Amino acid sequence: MAEDFTKSKFDAVDICSLLPTDQPTSDNFNFTCHNVTEAPLPFEPDTFDYVQQAMAAISYKMEDWPLVLQDMKRVTKPGGYIQLIEPDMYTHQLGPEGGLWRDQIHNTLRDQRGYEPRIACHLERLVSDLGLEDITVRYVSVPVGSWGLDIGHLWEQNFDAFLESAKPFLVENMQITNTIYQANTKKLKEELKGGEFKAFNNIYVVYGRVK
Ligand SMILES: C[S@@+](CC[C@H](N)C(=O)[O-])C[C@H]1O[C@@H](n2cnc3c(N)ncnc32)[C@H](O)[C@@H]1O
Repeated sequence: MAEDFTKSKFDAVDICSLLPTDQPTSDNFNFTCHNVTEAPLPFEPDTFDYVQQAMAAISYKMEDWPLVLQDMKRVTKPGGYIQLIEPDMYTHQLGPEGGLWRDQIHNTLRDQRGYEPRIACHLERLVSDLGLEDITVRYVSVPVGSWGLDIGHLWEQNFDAFLESAKPFLVENMQITNTIYQANTKKLKEELKGGEFKAFNNIYVVYGRVK
Protein backbone atom coordinates (compact mmCIF):
# COMPACT_ATOMS: atom_id res chain seq x y z
CA MET A 1 0.00 0.00 0.00
CA ALA A 2 2.83 2.37 0.88
CA GLU A 3 4.28 1.85 -2.61
CA ASP A 4 0.91 2.41 -4.31
CA PHE A 5 -0.14 5.47 -2.27
CA THR A 6 3.07 7.46 -2.10
CA LYS A 7 1.44 10.64 -0.79
CA SER A 8 0.15 8.88 2.33
CA LYS A 9 2.16 7.79 5.37
CA PHE A 10 1.78 4.25 6.73
CA ASP A 11 2.53 2.72 10.11
CA ALA A 12 2.36 -1.04 10.76
CA VAL A 13 2.73 -3.03 13.96
CA ASP A 14 3.21 -6.73 14.61
CA ILE A 15 4.58 -8.72 17.52
CA CYS A 16 7.22 -10.17 15.11
CA SER A 17 9.52 -8.28 12.80
CA LEU A 18 8.15 -9.39 9.44
CA LEU A 19 9.96 -7.04 7.12
CA PRO A 20 12.31 -8.42 4.47
CA THR A 21 15.88 -7.49 5.41
CA ASP A 22 17.24 -7.66 1.86
CA GLN A 23 15.28 -4.75 0.38
CA PRO A 24 14.70 -1.17 1.47
CA THR A 25 11.23 -0.16 2.65
CA SER A 26 9.44 2.91 1.33
CA ASP A 27 10.16 6.29 2.95
CA ASN A 28 6.45 6.65 3.74
CA PHE A 29 6.36 3.39 5.72
CA ASN A 30 7.28 2.72 9.33
CA PHE A 31 7.17 -0.59 11.20
CA THR A 32 7.09 -1.04 14.99
CA CYS A 33 7.39 -4.34 16.86
CA HIS A 34 4.53 -4.26 19.33
CA ASN A 35 2.30 -6.66 21.29
CA VAL A 36 -1.23 -5.27 21.02
CA THR A 37 -2.51 -7.22 24.02
CA GLU A 38 0.20 -5.99 26.38
CA ALA A 39 0.26 -2.25 25.80
CA PRO A 40 -1.65 0.47 23.94
CA LEU A 41 -0.61 1.09 20.35
CA PRO A 42 2.48 3.33 20.27
CA PHE A 43 0.57 6.26 18.70
CA GLU A 44 -1.13 9.40 19.97
CA PRO A 45 -4.95 9.60 20.01
CA ASP A 46 -6.61 10.73 16.73
CA THR A 47 -3.53 10.02 14.61
CA PHE A 48 -4.83 8.06 11.60
CA ASP A 49 -7.50 8.47 8.91
CA TYR A 50 -7.63 4.72 8.32
CA VAL A 51 -6.74 1.78 10.59
CA GLN A 52 -6.84 -1.82 9.38
CA GLN A 53 -6.34 -5.17 11.04
CA ALA A 54 -6.26 -8.42 9.03
CA MET A 55 -6.02 -12.15 9.76
CA ALA A 56 -5.84 -11.89 13.54
CA ALA A 57 -8.53 -14.53 14.26
CA ILE A 58 -6.38 -16.74 16.45
CA SER A 59 -3.73 -14.20 17.36
CA TYR A 60 -5.34 -13.41 20.69
CA LYS A 61 -8.17 -14.42 22.97
CA MET A 62 -11.82 -13.52 22.44
CA GLU A 63 -11.74 -11.42 25.62
CA ASP A 64 -8.89 -9.29 24.17
CA TRP A 65 -10.76 -8.31 21.00
CA PRO A 66 -12.87 -5.46 22.49
CA LEU A 67 -9.74 -3.99 24.11
CA VAL A 68 -7.69 -4.18 20.92
CA LEU A 69 -10.52 -2.61 18.90
CA GLN A 70 -11.00 0.12 21.51
CA ASP A 71 -7.35 1.06 21.14
CA MET A 72 -7.62 1.04 17.33
CA LYS A 73 -10.49 3.50 17.76
CA ARG A 74 -8.39 5.69 20.11
CA VAL A 75 -5.74 6.21 17.42
CA THR A 76 -8.27 6.85 14.62
CA LYS A 77 -9.35 10.45 13.93
CA PRO A 78 -13.05 11.30 14.22
CA GLY A 79 -14.43 10.68 10.72
CA GLY A 80 -11.70 8.12 10.02
CA TYR A 81 -12.36 4.49 9.20
CA ILE A 82 -11.55 1.18 10.87
CA GLN A 83 -11.48 -1.91 8.64
CA LEU A 84 -11.23 -5.56 9.74
CA ILE A 85 -10.56 -8.45 7.36
CA GLU A 86 -10.95 -11.98 8.73
CA PRO A 87 -11.66 -15.41 7.31
CA ASP A 88 -14.34 -17.36 9.15
CA MET A 89 -12.22 -20.41 9.95
CA TYR A 90 -15.27 -22.69 9.81
CA THR A 91 -14.82 -24.61 6.55
CA HIS A 92 -18.32 -25.42 5.28
CA GLN A 93 -19.29 -28.64 3.48
CA LEU A 94 -16.38 -30.77 4.60
CA GLY A 95 -17.01 -34.52 4.60
CA PRO A 96 -18.37 -36.22 7.75
CA GLU A 97 -14.94 -37.13 9.17
CA GLY A 98 -13.43 -33.79 8.21
CA GLY A 99 -16.34 -31.94 9.80
CA LEU A 100 -15.88 -33.76 13.08
CA TRP A 101 -12.13 -33.07 13.06
CA ARG A 102 -12.72 -29.37 12.29
CA ASP A 103 -15.16 -29.14 15.23
CA GLN A 104 -12.71 -30.84 17.60
CA ILE A 105 -9.98 -28.39 16.54
CA HIS A 106 -12.27 -25.39 16.99
CA ASN A 107 -13.47 -26.60 20.40
CA THR A 108 -9.85 -26.96 21.52
CA LEU A 109 -8.96 -23.46 20.32
CA ARG A 110 -11.96 -22.10 22.23
CA ASP A 111 -11.95 -24.17 25.40
CA GLN A 112 -8.23 -24.59 25.98
CA ARG A 113 -6.95 -21.24 24.74
CA GLY A 114 -9.86 -18.79 24.58
CA TYR A 115 -9.44 -18.17 20.83
CA GLU A 116 -12.51 -17.72 18.62
CA PRO A 117 -11.91 -19.27 15.18
CA ARG A 118 -15.26 -17.82 14.01
CA ILE A 119 -14.43 -14.27 15.14
CA ALA A 120 -15.28 -13.10 11.60
CA CYS A 121 -18.97 -13.72 12.37
CA HIS A 122 -18.77 -11.55 15.52
CA LEU A 123 -17.10 -8.53 13.94
CA GLU A 124 -20.32 -6.68 13.14
CA ARG A 125 -21.38 -6.84 16.80
CA LEU A 126 -17.89 -5.90 18.01
CA VAL A 127 -17.64 -2.79 15.83
CA SER A 128 -21.22 -1.89 16.69
CA ASP A 129 -20.38 -2.12 20.42
CA LEU A 130 -17.42 0.12 19.65
CA GLY A 131 -19.88 2.80 18.52
CA LEU A 132 -18.76 3.03 14.89
CA GLU A 133 -21.25 4.45 12.39
CA ASP A 134 -22.13 3.49 8.82
CA ILE A 135 -20.98 -0.07 9.40
CA THR A 136 -20.60 -2.21 6.30
CA VAL A 137 -20.29 -6.02 6.37
CA ARG A 138 -19.37 -8.03 3.30
CA TYR A 139 -18.10 -11.51 2.70
CA VAL A 140 -16.92 -13.59 -0.20
CA SER A 141 -17.02 -17.39 -0.33
CA VAL A 142 -13.77 -19.06 -1.32
CA PRO A 143 -13.74 -22.70 -2.49
CA VAL A 144 -11.37 -25.19 -0.85
CA GLY A 145 -10.00 -27.97 -3.05
CA SER A 146 -9.81 -28.80 -6.72
CA TRP A 147 -13.50 -28.13 -7.37
CA GLY A 148 -12.57 -24.44 -6.94
CA LEU A 149 -9.82 -24.56 -9.62
CA ASP A 150 -6.82 -22.23 -8.99
CA ILE A 151 -8.28 -20.36 -6.02
CA GLY A 152 -9.50 -23.67 -4.58
CA HIS A 153 -5.98 -25.12 -4.78
CA LEU A 154 -4.52 -22.02 -3.16
CA TRP A 155 -7.02 -22.07 -0.30
CA GLU A 156 -6.43 -25.80 0.17
CA GLN A 157 -2.68 -25.08 0.52
CA ASN A 158 -3.56 -22.41 3.07
CA PHE A 159 -5.72 -24.91 4.98
CA ASP A 160 -2.94 -27.53 4.85
CA ALA A 161 -0.41 -24.97 6.11
CA PHE A 162 -2.67 -24.14 9.06
CA LEU A 163 -3.13 -27.84 9.94
CA GLU A 164 0.63 -28.41 9.73
CA SER A 165 1.75 -25.31 11.64
CA ALA A 166 -0.92 -25.73 14.34
CA LYS A 167 -0.03 -29.40 14.86
CA PRO A 168 2.37 -29.03 17.84
CA PHE A 169 -0.02 -26.66 19.59
CA LEU A 170 -3.11 -28.82 18.91
CA VAL A 171 -1.44 -32.14 19.77
CA GLU A 172 -0.44 -30.69 23.13
CA ASN A 173 -3.78 -29.07 23.88
CA MET A 174 -5.91 -31.99 22.64
CA GLN A 175 -3.69 -34.39 24.56
CA ILE A 176 -3.39 -36.75 21.59
CA THR A 177 -0.43 -38.28 19.76
CA ASN A 178 1.05 -37.03 16.49
CA THR A 179 -0.16 -40.26 14.89
CA ILE A 180 -3.81 -39.60 15.81
CA TYR A 181 -3.49 -35.99 14.66
CA GLN A 182 -2.06 -37.10 11.31
CA ALA A 183 -4.69 -39.83 10.85
CA ASN A 184 -7.59 -37.41 11.43
CA THR A 185 -6.02 -34.81 9.16
CA LYS A 186 -5.49 -37.44 6.46
CA LYS A 187 -9.18 -38.41 6.57
CA LEU A 188 -10.20 -34.76 6.22
CA LYS A 189 -7.90 -34.30 3.24
CA GLU A 190 -9.02 -37.52 1.55
CA GLU A 191 -12.65 -36.42 1.74
CA LEU A 192 -11.65 -33.09 0.21
CA LYS A 193 -9.66 -34.73 -2.58
CA GLY A 194 -12.55 -37.11 -3.39
CA GLY A 195 -14.37 -34.17 -4.96
CA GLU A 196 -17.74 -35.19 -3.48
CA PHE A 197 -17.74 -32.38 -0.93
CA LYS A 198 -17.59 -28.82 -2.21
CA ALA A 199 -15.93 -27.18 0.80
CA PHE A 200 -15.63 -23.41 1.16
CA ASN A 201 -14.75 -20.63 3.61
CA ASN A 202 -16.26 -17.18 3.93
CA ILE A 203 -13.91 -14.22 4.21
CA TYR A 204 -15.33 -11.13 5.87
CA VAL A 205 -14.55 -7.46 5.56
CA VAL A 206 -16.19 -5.16 8.10
CA TYR A 207 -15.64 -1.41 8.24
CA GLY A 208 -17.15 1.60 9.91
CA ARG A 209 -16.53 5.27 10.66
CA VAL A 210 -15.39 6.70 13.97
CA LYS A 211 -17.77 9.40 15.29
C1 LIG B 1 -2.05 -14.58 10.12
S1 LIG B 1 -0.83 -13.37 10.42
C2 LIG B 1 -1.48 -11.96 9.53
C3 LIG B 1 -0.41 -10.95 9.20
C4 LIG B 1 -0.90 -9.69 8.48
N1 LIG B 1 -1.81 -8.94 9.35
C5 LIG B 1 -1.57 -10.01 7.18
O1 LIG B 1 -2.76 -9.75 7.02
O2 LIG B 1 -0.91 -10.54 6.28
C6 LIG B 1 -1.15 -12.93 12.13
C7 LIG B 1 -0.12 -11.97 12.65
O3 LIG B 1 -0.50 -11.55 13.96
C8 LIG B 1 0.70 -11.31 14.68
N2 LIG B 1 0.37 -11.28 16.11
C9 LIG B 1 -0.04 -12.31 16.88
N3 LIG B 1 -0.28 -11.90 18.14
C10 LIG B 1 0.00 -10.58 18.17
C11 LIG B 1 -0.02 -9.60 19.20
N4 LIG B 1 -0.39 -9.91 20.44
N5 LIG B 1 0.34 -8.33 18.89
C12 LIG B 1 0.71 -8.01 17.62
N6 LIG B 1 0.76 -8.90 16.60
C13 LIG B 1 0.41 -10.17 16.88
C14 LIG B 1 1.59 -12.48 14.27
O4 LIG B 1 2.96 -12.22 14.50
C15 LIG B 1 1.27 -12.60 12.78
O5 LIG B 1 2.16 -11.86 11.96
